[in-house]
Amino acid sequence: FSAFLTDTYGRRHTYLRMSLTEKCNLRCQYCMPEEGVKLTPRTQLMSTSEILTVARLFVEEGVDKIRLTGGEPLIRPDVLDIVTELRRLKGLKTIAVTTNGMNLSRLLPKLKEAGLDLLNISLDSLVPAKFEFIVRRKGFHKVMEGIDKALEMGFNPVKVNCVIMRGLNEDEILDFVTLTENRPLEVRFIEYMPFDGNKWNFKKMVSYQEMLDHIRQQWPDLQQLPLGKTDTAKTFKVPGFQGQVGFITSMSDHFCGSCNRLRITADGNLKVCLFGNTEVSLRDILRSGASEQELLEIIGAAVGRKKKQHAGMFNISRMKNRPMILIGITTQRP
Ligand code: GTP
Ligand code: 5AD
Ligand code: SF4
Repeated sequence: FSAFLTDTYGRRHTYLRMSLTEKCNLRCQYCMPEEGVKLTPRTQLMSTSEILTVARLFVEEGVDKIRLTGGEPLIRPDVLDIVTELRRLKGLKTIAVTTNGMNLSRLLPKLKEAGLDLLNISLDSLVPAKFEFIVRRKGFHKVMEGIDKALEMGFNPVKVNCVIMRGLNEDEILDFVTLTENRPLEVRFIEYMPFDGNKWNFKKMVSYQEMLDHIRQQWPDLQQLPLGKTDTAKTFKVPGFQGQVGFITSMSDHFCGSCNRLRITADGNLKVCLFGNTEVSLRDILRSGASEQELLEIIGAAVGRKKKQHAGMFNISRMKNRPMILIGITTQRP
């Protein structure tokens, strides 16, 4: 396996998350402040061809899964071209998207045709008014329509991401489990994580253990499923239900030891850890006319600086950070 993508702890990075945009058509409370965020000027964002160059390079080094994130990746006008071109990369097994679902039902047929394999869709409430409160916009029915269409079209698994926050939606945990009764979905309960401007505090976080205990009171026979080597989610099933539920326990029980992920922000920074500050601008290196070998060496050096694990939730919550929206699910400015 590529030495450039192997870190000092022997972790092999085969999964690349690429943020396509900093923009979003929602304003989720856990992701960004109400007033929005300062966007990077357009010329400093990665172009289509820069994204594809970086993707090809990583795939040649052994990345076999690319997830497109954001912001909201499906609002990028060239998203279909990007998926189409990624599909041509030999060695890339899986193309995935994490989306808020707002534009999904309209785009799904074209995304499938372009070669998309997997979909994760965010949905934090099953009550329309509460959905609107959390995401500060309307759109509940559009998201549900997107989820149902994804199932109809045979995407499997379809994962639904649900960030649980105390006082907001923890009363819906059982309803989300029930959603898996007649739908082959994987609902994933995510522990609320601290990012700039999202007003995280420990009390608002509902831990995996607490969620699990709550669900077990209703369904004592909840069965744990085997854990994949590099999975973020611990998964369970209520016997007889079509779907399953998962827990992403980044705060109470991190999974850094088996991390296989690297990220590229929309402005072209390589981030080796969601909660770390090792960050390097691939965009600037590309634009300086460096050779691919030089680029690889810089990538390798950054991967080599990846820490064993994140610093713990209280340290993370104090560190200077990007808001989630500017991360494509990453962190700190360089
Ligand atoms: P799969 O490929 O389906 O496993 O998706 P995923 O869980 O990696 O991606 P998704 O975009 O659906 O993210 C779900 C949640 O997992 C979000 O809250 C992410 O912030 C979190 N997450 C994704 N990658 C990492 C990571 O490397 N570390 C940590 N701690 N959390 C992550
Ligand atoms: N904590 C946990 N998950 C988050 N996400 C966004 N912000 C946070 C946060 N503060 C999730 C979204 C989306 C996924 C990519 O990241 O719900 O599904
Ligand atoms: Fe947009 Fe996703 Fe952030 Fe919500 S979590 S504001 S949908 S990028």
